Amino acid sequence: MPDKFYLTTPIYYVNARPHIGHAYTTIVADAIARRQRSLGVDTWFLTGTDEHGQKIERSAEAAGCTPQQFADRVSQEFKNLWDRMGLTCDDFIRTTEPRHILAVQNFITLLRDRGFIYKGSYTGQYCVFDELYVEAPPGAPCPDCGRPTETVSEENYFFKLSAFERRLLEFYDEHPDFIRPESRRNEVISFVKGGLRDLSVSRTSFNWGIPIPGDEKHVVYVWLDALANYITALGWSSADDSKYKTFWPADLHLVGKEIIRFHCVYWPAFLMAAGLPLPKSVHAHGWLLFEESKMSKSRGNIVRAETILEGFGALKPDLPKAEQDLFGADALRYFLLREIAFGQDGNFSFDALVQRYNADLANGYGNLVSRTLSMIGRYFDGLVPYPASSGSVVQSHSFAVELPRTISTFAASFDALDFSRALETAWAAVAAVDGYLTANAPWKQPEGVSDEQQQALRADILYTAAEAIRIITALVYPVIPNAAAQVWSQLGLGDIRKADLKNLQWRGLKPGTKLGELSPLFPRADKETITRMSELEQKNAPAPAATPEPETAEPSPAHTSKLKSAIEGLAVAMAESTNETAAVAAFEGAIAETVRETIGGRKDQAPSAPVAALQPTPSGPEDATNLPGTRILPPAPATGTVAAPAGPAAPTLPEGKISIDDFSKVELRVGQIKVAERVPKADKLLRLEVDLGTETRQILAGIAEAYAPESLIGRKVVIVANLAPRKLRGLESNGMIVAASLEGGRPVLAGFLEDVPVGARLK
Ligand code: MSP
Repeated sequence: MPDKFYLTTPIYYVNARPHIGHAYTTIVADAIARRQRSLGVDTWFLTGTDEHGQKIERSAEAAGCTPQQFADRVSQEFKNLWDRMGLTCDDFIRTTEPRHILAVQNFITLLRDRGFIYKGSYTGQYCVFDELYVEAPPGAPCPDCGRPTETVSEENYFFKLSAFERRLLEFYDEHPDFIRPESRRNEVISFVKGGLRDLSVSRTSFNWGIPIPGDEKHVVYVWLDALANYITALGWSSADDSKYKTFWPADLHLVGKEIIRFHCVYWPAFLMAAGLPLPKSVHAHGWLLFEESKMSKSRGNIVRAETILEGFGALKPDLPKAEQDLFGADALRYFLLREIAFGQDGNFSFDALVQRYNADLANGYGNLVSRTLSMIGRYFDGLVPYPASSGSVVQSHSFAVELPRTISTFAASFDALDFSRALETAWAAVAAVDGYLTANAPWKQPEGVSDEQQQALRADILYTAAEAIRIITALVYPVIPNAAAQVWSQLGLGDIRKADLKNLQWRGLKPGTKLGELSPLFPRADKETITRMSELEQKNAPAPAATPEPETAEPSPAHTSKLKSAIEGLAVAMAESTNETAAVAAFEGAIAETVRETIGGRKDQAPSAPVAALQPTPSGPEDATNLPGTRILPPAPATGTVAAPAGPAAPTLPEGKISIDDFSKVELRVGQIKVAERVPKADKLLRLEVDLGTETRQILAGIAEAYAPESLIGRKVVIVANLAPRKLRGLESNGMIVAASLEGGRPVLAGFLEDVPVGARLK
């Protein structure tokens, strides 16, 4: 067991208000930090906000304030929320703090002195949203996020990233646990193997950043600035670097999967160049999806954590507000860690949250605690009873025998960050204790059993149940800290934060202990809880603190989701060779409707919304209005409120046609098949692992009757890369292979006559 543990979350951009996607990472980090502390490990948990860069500068401008004012406001929102939720961050770094700015300047100076930074010039496409130079021709959208790119020509400082290709690969090889999970590791390794070019690490086209020492018209590239937070927050290069000396290197950087490259390629290369130790591990988790797509401000499909705190808080109207928040936070924490397989994407919905809460917390754990402790109150005056058998009888109950295994499985799963499995294990124990109580019915007195005998039996049963609850509570404390703390004190054990939860031995609960005051833990939630949360979310939907990101028109989430399910329907129909005609018709219908809603004017758009958000991309050869042979669409179904956007005439499209913008939403990429195998009990399905250059995807394709698996290995194919994941036969399919469908449904894979690089986008 290490004697210290340093873990971090990404620092969050302040251009968007916090939502439960951000809360997800911070909650996971909090659960890990709490477990480490409860095991007696000296723990440091860092989070914070990322406040520089063009994106923030523009958001502030649009909001009519300075970038600093803007950052102050949103950063405070993050901080307040983490406080409300009782998250135990040890430090909250802001990249606009002097302690960070000075240390970043020291870092740059160090890299320059060690010969890894030089001056050069660069012209390329820059994606402001991703804060990244991308490989794309002028005018083309960002290959990563599909948003417009800008041509930037600058004299820049460059970091010699190319010098680290071999060293990085060696490092990954020597440290197999550095990147987790395995699929992300493969993704990073193939990215580095594809070749690394020097990285531009300064900007002159805007000011909102940390000036490069000695050449102040340059500001530090926002990702270098941001990544350095992990050491600047510890006081690296400052007069007091004791925290740095104690805690660096980090034991765990937790990140969302979309920023793995920055953490596993750039960050270690910067540290190698600076001669500093590398973090021990970077673990990427999946995305929280809402309405089938990644929760993000730009899609407008966010859910705020405050909604859940308030929605659940209303179940305990008598509690002070701060305690209601902590109660709601437990419900959210439990759901996120139990429901989503860590590392995979997961869907969030209010229904699922309430269902999980009722099943596992209200009816499961909460009910078990309440029935056990109230019986101890009733039959033993609120004193933990003495088991008559000095433990020998209780030891023989199967779940008591199982408990050591529960403890070790829970620990192993939790420490491997498989939270869902860990909680499953703990809740299997809850169910076993519940079943034991029901089977032994301590409230009944069987015929022929004396009062004395019955009381001894009861003592045995209730001690056993209470002791099992103590152990389960100690295990689940990092996940539902507020409820666990209450149970701990109801068991008469005092403050759980001061308890030694390291050595959980059976019979640790002292008979004779006086129970604390009992109060209900998890009142049942109902439909009204769901309605309350949906209404709260709708009420708060327009985010007042932040401003729209620079984006082109997007369909509403409802239409994106409709379009996506139509595409998925098509994928499934193709995979299973069923119902193709209906699926194609649904697909075409959804596209036509989306086009009408997006380009022809949106129902849900307030007339005062920025005009730019309703307009197509600037007119040019691809502009829908300039396409030859356009036909006027019949007007959109009466909406009453929507006028055609001001400025250029509203574009119209021939019926059944889509614009170039719509097409560009479908991300087609070249992939190479690395693994192909049949799916058991599915004649038509193959399971493929397809290399997309930056990642390897599992895709299920209904081509088994046309292609032998082994004939596909190494073959380059066309993939629809941004299709929402879908489960077929219990396996997740992440994308679709494009194929012609010949008569009889025989698929013929699309391919290329010339050699094409893996990952290239088709447009
Ligand atoms: N500022 C950078 C990170 C710099 S770290 C040196 C950034 N910020 S961000 O605000 O976009 O936050 C990204 C992180 O927030 C993700 O990596 C993830 O941890 C979390 N999430 C944001 N939206 C999320 C979901 N919808 N689902 C899951 N996590 C999400 O990137």
